[in-house]
Amino acid sequence: KLSFTHRFEPATVAGSPPLLLLHGTGGDESDLLPLGRAVSPGSALLSPRGPVPENGMPRFFRRLAEGVFDEADLRRRARELADFIAEAREAYGIAAPVALGFSNGANIAAALLLLHPGVLAGAALLRPMMPLAEPPVPDLTGTPVLMLSGMADPIVPAENAARLAGILGRAGADVAHDIQPAGHGLGQADVTAVQAWMARMV
Ligand code: MLT
Repeated sequence: KLSFTHRFEPATVAGSPPLLLLHGTGGDESDLLPLGRAVSPGSALLSPRGPVPENGMPRFFRRLAEGVFDEADLRRRARELADFIAEAREAYGIAAPVALGFSNGANIAAALLLLHPGVLAGAALLRPMMPLAEPPVPDLTGTPVLMLSGMADPIVPAENAARLAGILGRAGADVAHDIQPAGHGLGQADVTAVQAWMARMV
């Protein structure tokens, strides 16, 4: 029995990169399956549920307030998620996944990149923010990362997203940072942008 409640859909096209789907606050393991299918038809989909309930809403780590994170919990949860990915890779026979995370899910994906380089083969981060006050600069040479920020996002200041892009770039990741005319929510433009990025990656 694997350590996270999750859903798994096997690949239908051999060689397509497995996706790790990481939902936003209040989502669950079913939320991002349609998005995953849309952006990379044929990929295996591994979709865990955030193990930390906030007033009943699943999250991937604790926060003290909106945008203010419990970093000790974040570090512990990032390690547990890295362990789950290793278990799932073994159980399902999949390669290192590309994360597709939204909001809180994007933030734990960013933490995985920074704290556990090598666990993810790449990441599409939708409305991410910098998860750590003093991030390490790991070696992410050549790791593809797409960041999609919202110009009018009330949760993520533009400067914060830019700082995350800067750190990932300094770590050697191959970062594309697009600023969409959008708020915190997702729209069709995000789907199209992730699709195009995935298509370039394979
Ligand atoms: C977070 O807590 O990760 C961010 O505030 C985004 C959110 O989940 O609302």
